[in-house]
Amino acid sequence: MTVSGTDAATPGDLIRRLTDVVGTSGIVTAPAEMAGYLTDWRSAYAGAALAVVRPASTEAVAGVMRLCHQTGTAVVPQGGNTGMCGGAVPDSTGRQLLVSLTRMRRIRDVDVANQTITAEAGAVLQAVQEAAAGANKMFPLSLGAQGSCTIGGNLATNAGGTAVLRYGTMRDLTLGLEVVLPDGRIWNGLRALRKDNTGYDLKQLFIGAEGTLGIITAAVLKLFPAVRSRATAWVAIPETQSAVDLIGVVREVAGDRLTGFEIMSRQSVDFVLRHSPGTRDPFADRHRWYALVELSDSLPEAGLDDVIASVLEVAVQRDLIADAAIASSPAQAAALWALREGISEAQNHEGPSLKHDVTVPVSSISQFVERTDRALEKVVPGIRIVTYGHVGDGNLHYNLSKPPGYNADDFRARATDLAGVIYDQTAAFNGSISAEHGLGQSKRDVIADYKDSCELDLMRGLKQLLDPRGLMNPGKGVPD
Ligand code: FAD
Ligand code: MLT
Ligand code: ZN
Repeated sequence: MTVSGTDAATPGDLIRRLTDVVGTSGIVTAPAEMAGYLTDWRSAYAGAALAVVRPASTEAVAGVMRLCHQTGTAVVPQGGNTGMCGGAVPDSTGRQLLVSLTRMRRIRDVDVANQTITAEAGAVLQAVQEAAAGANKMFPLSLGAQGSCTIGGNLATNAGGTAVLRYGTMRDLTLGLEVVLPDGRIWNGLRALRKDNTGYDLKQLFIGAEGTLGIITAAVLKLFPAVRSRATAWVAIPETQSAVDLIGVVREVAGDRLTGFEIMSRQSVDFVLRHSPGTRDPFADRHRWYALVELSDSLPEAGLDDVIASVLEVAVQRDLIADAAIASSPAQAAALWALREGISEAQNHEGPSLKHDVTVPVSSISQFVERTDRALEKVVPGIRIVTYGHVGDGNLHYNLSKPPGYNADDFRARATDLAGVIYDQTAAFNGSISAEHGLGQSKRDVIADYKDSCELDLMRGLKQLLDPRGLMNPGKGVPD
């Protein structure tokens, strides 16, 4: 595809010129070798590409983008390819260029006094956590895909995860960025400052932009004191309102040592127990809902077991919980977290999994769930509602599985109606239809129905300003 004002190049020409920039080891064109880059991890999206390039430096990314700008070639950035909404998968034309950042994985600097780490975009999240730990510090972003997702992907989706309550999302964790712009210029915004009032905070434009404005090549991220004590509890709760009230109790008793508060419906836990080897139900009885509560502290002897026991005592007095188990070792805590982190994978074994990732104000959670469940049940009676997630942030993963025996294609055919039910209810409670996974391909069109038209105009204006030729991840994120 060429855009007016650009030099036409045959695919063969372009591949030769790209090879000059990234070297023969930095380009993949054989269909079998490209295949892994062209489908997402759930096999929910598939595309084709002119080639996959794997630049090893910021200068090489800039060289690739200059060529794409000259030839009007559209680009799809990709990190660990763990995204949930098809953002890193190209379209089916075979004319887009996939730019994988996975060779750019250096930790450029750890500045202990400044409490910062500078990492390249392709660094795997877990490697960044380990580099921080090696300096006796902690990088707090934590999520199920941390062994494969990259810092660039985390930034481009403004990833959240299970410690947002205490540390915030990637937006809150980032001090500076290096970005290659659609015309190949390099913006060196790698500032490591906690205070900088010299105009617009441009890095925030690229965070959460899902690769539609430029390619992030490196970031300066905040570090925190290492965690030296932790307490984890698995709690049975009768209804979602009890979870909301329990968060209040934890805050009252434990203050800002509250690090994670996750909720899981029984349906979600059932799937994990069925499909994740080695998992077991901590309780003999079945309960409608469960919460996973985590406290942490940087002091080694913080007495958190006593603190969590006090939390549970107050919760029992207020009739908020039906049962509770406190992990007595790191292995037990890991087993409880496996029940939570295993949901996404386990659900894939139960047929098509229709994913929705919404936020409403925490105070509305209970009413929201009650009304949404009722409305979903009317569309597909017997539907299995796999609700779980970061309830402390008001963020629920409202995932849906077909009733047993229901035809998979018939269920997929109801996807738009079912999403409409969830999104309409979300809007009724002043929520957002994407809390953390982004718009990608899946919500790109529907977002126009739920965002203010003035906001949409501003988004389109920014896209036009930064990417006038529309080369960056077309068909994703901001709607036309
Ligand atoms: P990719 O999937 O490769 O890309 C995601 C998007 O970012 C695409 O639009 C892509 O074009 C763009 N992109 C990638 N790299 C760059 C770059 N360098 N510059 C510009 N754009 C880029 N997310 C949460 O927020 N919270 C969770 O708790 C959570 N849990 C998860 C659990 C599991 C098991 C899985 C599989 C995913 C989970 N996710 C979660 C989804 C989450 O978005 C990703 O795991 C992660 O943030 C994406 O990183 P990635 O490197 O895989 O990005
Ligand atoms: C999670 O929190 O586990 C993911 O963000 C949600 C999902 O897998 O749908
Ligand atoms: Zn999540």
